[in-house]
Amino acid sequence: AALTIHPRRRGAELGDMFGIFFEDINHAADGGLYAELVQNRSFEFDPIDHREYHALTAWETVERGGGKAAVTIETSHPLNERNPHYAVIEILAEGAGVGILNQGFNSGISLTKGESYLFSVYARRDNSFNEPLVLTLESHEGVVHAEASITVDSAEWRKYEVRLTAQDTDVSSRLVLVTTGSGKLYLDMVSLFPEATFRGRPGGMRKDISEWLAALKPKFMRFPGGCLIHDGSLNPDARDSLYHWKNTLGDVAQRPSRRNNWSYNQTLGLGYYEYFQFCEDIGAKPLPVLPGGYNPHRNQAVPLDELEPWIQDALDLIEFANGDSSTPWGSKRAELGHPEPFGLEYVGIGNEEVGEPFFERYPYFHRAIKERYPDIKVINSSGPFAAGSEYDRGWNSAKGHGSDLVDEHYYQSPEWFLANYHRYDNFKADEPKVFLGEFASWGNSYYNALAEAAYMTGLERNAHAVGLVCYAPMLCNADYVNWKPDMIWFNNHQVYGTPNYYVQKLFMNHHGDQLLAVEGSGFSAPQAAAASAIIGPIVLTASNTAAEFYDIELLNRVTGEKRTFSGLSPEVNTMKDLPEGSNIPRVLELGETGWEHYTLSLKARRTAGPKGFIIEFGR
Ligand code: AHR
Repeated sequence: AALTIHPRRRGAELGDMFGIFFEDINHAADGGLYAELVQNRSFEFDPIDHREYHALTAWETVERGGGKAAVTIETSHPLNERNPHYAVIEILAEGAGVGILNQGFNSGISLTKGESYLFSVYARRDNSFNEPLVLTLESHEGVVHAEASITVDSAEWRKYEVRLTAQDTDVSSRLVLVTTGSGKLYLDMVSLFPEATFRGRPGGMRKDISEWLAALKPKFMRFPGGCLIHDGSLNPDARDSLYHWKNTLGDVAQRPSRRNNWSYNQTLGLGYYEYFQFCEDIGAKPLPVLPGGYNPHRNQAVPLDELEPWIQDALDLIEFANGDSSTPWGSKRAELGHPEPFGLEYVGIGNEEVGEPFFERYPYFHRAIKERYPDIKVINSSGPFAAGSEYDRGWNSAKGHGSDLVDEHYYQSPEWFLANYHRYDNFKADEPKVFLGEFASWGNSYYNALAEAAYMTGLERNAHAVGLVCYAPMLCNADYVNWKPDMIWFNNHQVYGTPNYYVQKLFMNHHGDQLLAVEGSGFSAPQAAAASAIIGPIVLTASNTAAEFYDIELLNRVTGEKRTFSGLSPEVNTMKDLPEGSNIPRVLELGETGWEHYTLSLKARRTAGPKGFIIEFGR
C-alpha cells in the first residue's frame, strides 16, 4: 500500500480550521478551568441549580473545644443586589473557636507545598464582635498547612485580603474560618485562588488545564456553549435566564450567579473578559456564540418587537471586543485592563437551533451585524445532524441570508465517522462554509480517536467547504460528569488527555496553510487510506483503521537510507507522561525529515495487536 503526495497539486487554504470549544459543562469552569478553589463562595447555590443545592452547599459549621455557633443565611443587608445571600456566624459559645469551613471541589482544596494562595472575603460584624478571624488551610485530620488572620473592623461590608503559603502538599484540604468572642460575623464572597494561575492573571485560569489547552495550539476558541447559551428563561434578570454576556464583566462580587442548565450553579467568574484574555494568551481567535432570542428547549421566543435589546447585545459584544476607547463598550474593555482590541472576527448566533422561531429571528441579527460590521463573519445554525428537515432549514437560511458559516453538530459512532468520510466532498466552495462546532464519536478509546482522525483528514481534504472544526465537549471534571466522552479529564490536581485529545493536538500542532493532493492505493479498506496532506508546515496525517497492523518504512531516495518504525514500538511512544495501563494512543513522531526526499510505505503485518496507528510526518 502506498500514499502518494503531489506537492504541486495544491488545493484550498485551511484558514483557521482547527480550534477548541469551551462550555461550562462537567464543571469545566467552576471547579475546572476557573482557578477559584472555594465552592459556593457567595452562598448563592440554589435548588433551582440542582434540587440538592442550597445556600450552604459545600460549607460546614465548625465548633471546636465546646464552641457553639448558629450559621445561617440572610438577605436583608446584602453586599449588592446581584449577590443577595450571605452567611451569618452567631457565636453562641466560643469554646476553642467556631466558624465555617469550605470543602472545595473533588476531594477538597488542592495545595502544593511552597505555593502561595490569595484569600479574600467581604465581611462585616455587629458591635459586640471584636476578635480576629483566623484562616487555616487544613487537612481532614486538622493538620494546619497554612495560617493567617484578619480583623473585621466595620459594621459595613469591607473586603479583606491576605496571602497564605502552603507548608505541605495536600490534595484534599479545607479552608477553615474560625473565631472566638461573642456576637455576629457576616461573610460573603469567600475566595481562595492559587497565586500561580495561568500567566499569573489574578482571578484567572488553572495553570495545568490551561497548559494542556495551550499545547493544542488551537486557531480559535468557541465560547460559552453549547446548550447553556439558549437554555433558560427569556427574562434577562432571572436566575435561569439565557446567557447574557454583560452579566459576566467586572468585579466578580457584582456578577450574578446563574443556573447553569447542566444542573449546577455557575458563578460567571470565567466571564467574557477572562475568555477574550485567555484566547489572546493561547493565541486562539475568539468565537463567541450568542443566543438568538429563542429557547428551543422550551420553544419560547422573544417577540419580534422586543428583539432589539438582544440584537444590541450582539453589536455591543463586537464593540466590547474591537471598539476603540472612544466607544462605550471599547472604553469598558480599556477600563478592565485591555485598551487594545481583541480582534474579534467571528460571531455565532444560536446554538443547535431547530424551530421556525429561530430562523425568523436570525435575519434581524445577521442584517444588523453586517450593516455595522461588514467584516465580521456571522455563523448560522443547522441544529444537530439527526434533526433531518430542521437541519436543511439551517442551511437554507444560511444560503438565503448569506451567512459566512453554518454550525453543524454531531455525536455518532466511530463507524458513522468512517462511513461519512466523504460527507463534504460535494459541498460547494462558493456557499456558506461548514463550522463543525461540535463533534465526537461515542467514546474515548484509541479506536474512537482513530476514527476521528480519519474523519478529520476528510475535513482537511474538503477545506474548500469546511471552515472551522472543534471537538466537543472539551473538559470534564471526573467527579462531576454531565456528558461523556470528553477530550480532557481532570480532578482538582491532575489532568489527563484522552486519545481524542492527542488526535486533536496532532491536527492543531501541524495546522497547514494549504492542501496538497494525496492518493492512496493498495489499502484493504477505503478508510484505511484516510489521509490528507498540507503545506505550511508539511505534514502527512494518516489514520489506519484497518484490521492489519502496519510497519512504516521510510526510504530516503537521495541517500538510500532506510528507516523502519514498528507501528507501536515503545521507543517512539510519545505518551510517556500517561499512567501505565491507560488506553492511550501512540503517536509516532518521525521527527525532522526532508519529507520531499522520502518514500513512505506501509507494510501490512498480520497481528492480534491494536487496530491501527496515526502518523504525523513532517516538520
Ligand atoms: O456538547 C454537549 C452539548 O451537546 C452541547 O451543549 C449542545 O450544543 C449539544 O447538544
